[in-house]
Amino acid sequence: MQLDASHNAGLNTLRPDPTQRVVGVTGAGSTPASWVERSLAAVWHPCTQMQWHPDLPLVSIARAEGPWLTGHDGARYFDAIGSWWVCLLGHRHPAVVQALRDQLDRLDHVMLAGLTHQPVIELSERLSAMTGNVLGHAFYGSDGASAIEIAIKMSAHAWQHLGHGAKQSFVCLAGSYHGETLGALGLTDLPGFRQPYEGLVRPAYVVPNADARQAQPGEDARAVALRQVGHLEALLAEHAERIAAIVTEPLVQGAGGMIFYDPEYLRQVRALCDRYSVHWIADEIAVGCGRTGSFFACEQSGVWPDLLCLSKGISGGFLPLSIVLSRDGLYRLFLHDSASKAFLHSHSFTGNPLACSAALAVLDVLEKDQVLAANRVRAARLTARLLPVSSHPRVRHFRSLGMIWAWDVADAPADFSQQVFRAALRHELLLRPIGKTVYLMPPYLLGDHDIDALADSVAAVMKEVLA
Ligand SMILES: Cc1ncc(COP(=O)(O)O)c(C=O)c1O
Repeated sequence: MQLDASHNAGLNTLRPDPTQRVVGVTGAGSTPASWVERSLAAVWHPCTQMQWHPDLPLVSIARAEGPWLTGHDGARYFDAIGSWWVCLLGHRHPAVVQALRDQLDRLDHVMLAGLTHQPVIELSERLSAMTGNVLGHAFYGSDGASAIEIAIKMSAHAWQHLGHGAKQSFVCLAGSYHGETLGALGLTDLPGFRQPYEGLVRPAYVVPNADARQAQPGEDARAVALRQVGHLEALLAEHAERIAAIVTEPLVQGAGGMIFYDPEYLRQVRALCDRYSVHWIADEIAVGCGRTGSFFACEQSGVWPDLLCLSKGISGGFLPLSIVLSRDGLYRLFLHDSASKAFLHSHSFTGNPLACSAALAVLDVLEKDQVLAANRVRAARLTARLLPVSSHPRVRHFRSLGMIWAWDVADAPADFSQQVFRAALRHELLLRPIGKTVYLMPPYLLGDHDIDALADSVAAVMKEVLA
């Protein structure tokens, strides 16, 4: 079985090639077999067919700095996908390391029920201010999927408070990925992840997406959005009394294959949600924190959701953290004399002070170093340097937004993603294509030399694989 929906930015759903049996990666050096063997014996790796190892390389990483990962054998790899899209500033950014050291000297962890602390207060206030105080209440989870669970429970519960207990269904877009816990899996339209658990999940309504690649002659991405939103409108017209919320990944559906769509779609979603009394949950777990060019991807649409989920890059990839931001009106529905009307959801590590301190340090760096403005210059350079890739006759739909690049490959063989993964390692690069779509989501803080090295390696990998 070749799982095409091989995201989570790097799932080992790559079929091994028995003719290339290696332990670790040969060429730049080899990972000491002992680490690989010990890992294979003791670690059940995520999203991995364990039987494919060790034919499929398992790379043992000893250190990391900036965009570079270094193996136990000394071989290095440019982390072009930010380790499942979390390493926003690169690895071990000194400001985040220092913030964590300082926080460790003050407070490690404390539960957030009945207690509070400075990092969680400051982080909540700062994120609220960044939404113009539209989303003024921050609820904390541990990872992306837990944020989605929180948001869908909040939405359905809020409707109960309003006397609309029948509103318990959700809508997602075709090709969506919102995580793999059971609630989130119900909103994930990728069969590879869902199929074995079909009997356990409550499926959402799936509406066709606004993938800009669907443009017909004479249409632009906005026209596609306006055309495709008709499907959502038809669904809401018929079933709104049962629907609590629509959940979207704003602007780019990541794991579904870097599906780009126009911000007009989000404006239309907002208008339809208002018209049909349905919440809009924006899943900015992958696209938030500046990835698409603005801190929140939603900013590019000019409209705000009712609930917004953040995770991944918010803590710079240092510690697990997720946050659900909500509107005041929704929050107030839970205020009541009775405890049973409260939002009783809880995770042990909710609002962990270390993770919040890391997030505050990330926000400091983004702000003080004007990283998003600098990213525009970085992005222009990388796009230009990727010309040998974008102009390759087998490359289709080369696209970029903020610090995301993606392209599809025509006539790609079944083992394309495996070929790219292996070739990339030989060129000091970590790449994990999603099926026939290759993408880059590198750390932001790249110098000209890093950008040129990245582009050269990517071009060399594509040339080799497409030869
Ligand atoms: C858009 C989106 N939502 C949710 C998730 C789930 O996050 P996590 O893997 O931290 O549970 C992901 C992970 O890739 C994601 O890309």
